[in-house]
Amino acid sequence: MDPSRLAEEFEQVLNVGIALSSVHDLEKLLDLILLEARRLTRADAGTLYLVKGNRLVFRVSQCQSLSDRLGEERMRQMYQSFEMPVSPESIAGYSALTRKVLNLGDVKQIPPEASYHYNSSWDQKAGYDTHSMMVVPMLNRENEVVGVLQLINAMSDGRVIPFRMEHQRLASSLASQAAVAIENAELTEDLKQAHLDTIFRLGVAAEYRDKETANHIKRMSHYCALIARGLGWSDEEVETILWSSLMHDVGKLGIPDSILQKPGRLTPEERKIMELHTNIGGSILKGAKAPVLQKSRIVALTHHEKFDGTGYTRGLKGEKIPLEGRITVLADVFDALSSKRVYKEAMAEAEVLRILTEGRGTHFDPAILDVFLGSLEEARRIQGRYSDREEDFDKLRGLGSTEGEEEDSAAT
Ligand SMILES: [Fe+2]
Ligand SMILES: [Fe+2]
Repeated sequence: MDPSRLAEEFEQVLNVGIALSSVHDLEKLLDLILLEARRLTRADAGTLYLVKGNRLVFRVSQCQSLSDRLGEERMRQMYQSFEMPVSPESIAGYSALTRKVLNLGDVKQIPPEASYHYNSSWDQKAGYDTHSMMVVPMLNRENEVVGVLQLINAMSDGRVIPFRMEHQRLASSLASQAAVAIENAELTEDLKQAHLDTIFRLGVAAEYRDKETANHIKRMSHYCALIARGLGWSDEEVETILWSSLMHDVGKLGIPDSILQKPGRLTPEERKIMELHTNIGGSILKGAKAPVLQKSRIVALTHHEKFDGTGYTRGLKGEKIPLEGRITVLADVFDALSSKRVYKEAMAEAEVLRILTEGRGTHFDPAILDVFLGSLEEARRIQGRYSDREEDFDKLRGLGSTEGEEEDSAAT
């Protein structure tokens, strides 16, 4: 082979490897791997599977000619998530099992003695004509199969041709880099999930003592994200407030039961102690290094401030209250009014909206209130998605059994 061509190939794969290592979001990474694999091999279409146990799980599909014909959106809708066993009967399964690249000139000419066969149901459904196919296992450093890349219809001058040897080499080098990048991204995702799960559970622990359900903080945090999105915050900022608001009441962990769980009204002294939960939350979160916890601290300290300066803990006024505080106060009050508690029924929506509007400019920042009122449809959906069940209240009342409880998943 021409040495300059080899050098060019090497450089191409190297560049892709660098690009892959800079993407940590698994979804985006899988999309990029398939896109680059198709680009390097001139494939019209492709599918990426990940191996989970002894199954292949479909993750991404792309098809240039189909998206040209139907549009990107329609094309995506045509692909449904599915799983299949890692077994020699399917082409992808065979490649995952044997760790071999399968380079098939025409899937319609597979010899009858082969253990795998081509399933043409997708072609029929999409009006597509698959001929050449190359299936490449993605192997990690331990030589384990992380996933499989299935590339379809190599194109040359508008015609479908078999995948060339150089394409096979390129795809194989890309696949091993992809495997490492996928493992790293999964590890990062696991760590992030563990971190966020802990935040959620700490939030639940604090609310539980005050007889609030886990759903209260899920709803509340989603209302916060809804408002942040309406204010034009970036995806990352929206995600940060979604998670940081979960701990708004973490300081309740430091309030005695005699006050937190006292039936009826609190005395002025008791109320003062209760209000300290903002400062206690601030102390718990002080010095945190993670950005999401630093935001949690701001939320914990300021989620009872009122726009006119009559709130607590510091009596901040207007724009002096951090935006996070102005958002969470509205989300928290809306949820407190509109949902049932152990000691009260939910208020009718019209009444809730009347109270919120009454608080415009006094309790709430008018701009934030307007954004929220403009997103009521979505707020109702959040309400429905995380509505409390009677068993949730039974648990809080101490009536329900705590054994064999179903898992309460983190707010996502
Ligand atoms: Fe609070
Ligand atoms: Fe709350």
